[in-house]
Amino acid sequence: MRKKVLVFRELPEDQLARLQAAHDVTVANPRVAAQRPAFDAALAEAQGLIGSSFPVDDALLARAPKLEVISSVSVGVDNYALAALHERGILLCHTPGVLDETVADTVFALLMATSRRVVELSNLVRVGHWNKNIGEDLFGFDVHGKTLGLLGFGRIGQAIARRAALGFGMPVLYHARRPVDLAAQAPELQGHAAHTPLDELLARADIVVAMLPLSDSTRGMIDASVFARMKPGAIFINGGRGATVQEPALLAALDHGTLRAAGLDVFATEPLPNDSPLRTHARVTPLPHIGSATHETRHAMAELATTNLLKALAGERPSAVYDTAFA
Ligand code: DGY
Repeated sequence: MRKKVLVFRELPEDQLARLQAAHDVTVANPRVAAQRPAFDAALAEAQGLIGSSFPVDDALLARAPKLEVISSVSVGVDNYALAALHERGILLCHTPGVLDETVADTVFALLMATSRRVVELSNLVRVGHWNKNIGEDLFGFDVHGKTLGLLGFGRIGQAIARRAALGFGMPVLYHARRPVDLAAQAPELQGHAAHTPLDELLARADIVVAMLPLSDSTRGMIDASVFARMKPGAIFINGGRGATVQEPALLAALDHGTLRAAGLDVFATEPLPNDSPLRTHARVTPLPHIGSATHETRHAMAELATTNLLKALAGERPSAVYDTAFA
C-alpha cells in the first residue's frame, strides 16, 4: 500500500526515485523558510520521514500523528526525541557501518593536520611568507609511534585504531563503557589496543581523540578536569559530537593550559557561529562537520536509509534499527 513519506533533507536522485516508485513523496526542507509550509502540511500526514541534521523533538513529533517510522541519514541519533519515539512505538532507523572508514579518514586528516601544522604552514606559503627555511618555532610533532587515547571505541573508534596501530605504529589506549572483546570483534588490534581507565588514558596519551555519541551521560563530559588531566603538550581531536565538549574549557586549556592544539570536526552549535573563538584560534583546525562527507559514503548512507524506510513501511524489519529503549 502506498504511504505518505516526507523527505526533509535532499536525497540523491536514484534514492528519491526508489521512494517515489513505492510511495507518495513530499520533499521539503524545514530549514528553508519557503519550504516550511509544505513541510508542515506533509508532516501532519506523513507515515515515514527520511532526512538528517534537523531536530525531531517532542514538539515536532506532536505535529506528526500518523508517523510510523523515521529513517535518519546519519549514524548519530542525538537529533531525535528517543523517549517519545519509544513511547509511541515509532521505529527509528539509522546508518551504522557504511561510514566508519570515511569518518576514520577524516579524524586522521585532523590528527595529521594538527600535529604537523598542515593548514597553518600551507597558509604561510599562500600568503607569501615562505622566504626562508622554517625554524623550530614552526616545527611539528611526530605522529608515528605516539600514544593514541580514544574516548569511545565503537566501529569508528576501531577504524581509527587500525590506522593508528597498523599504519603509524601507535600504541592505542581506549576508554569505553566496557572492554571490547578484541579476539571476536577486532582481532587485528589484539596486542595493539588496551581498555584503560580514563585517568590513566589522559595521563599517557599524546593525542586524545573523542568519538563519543551525544546522550545525557556524555553531554559536557569533556570538561576542564578532563583537559587538566591530559599529558602536557597533548593534542585533542573531536570527531564525535561537539556538545560532549565544554568549549570554554577547551579554549582555556589551549590558552592557559598545556594543550598543544585541537582538531575539531564537530561543535556544540553547528554551523559554528561566526563569533566563536574556535573559528579563528591559531591552534585550532576547524572543519564543517565533514566526517562522512564523501560522494561514495554519503550515497551509501542515503541508500541504506532509503532501504531501511522502504522495508519498515512494507512491514519488514530493517537491518539498522536503533533501540530507542536506550533513551
Ligand atoms: C553521523 O552520521 O552521525 C555523522 O555525524 C554525519 O557525518
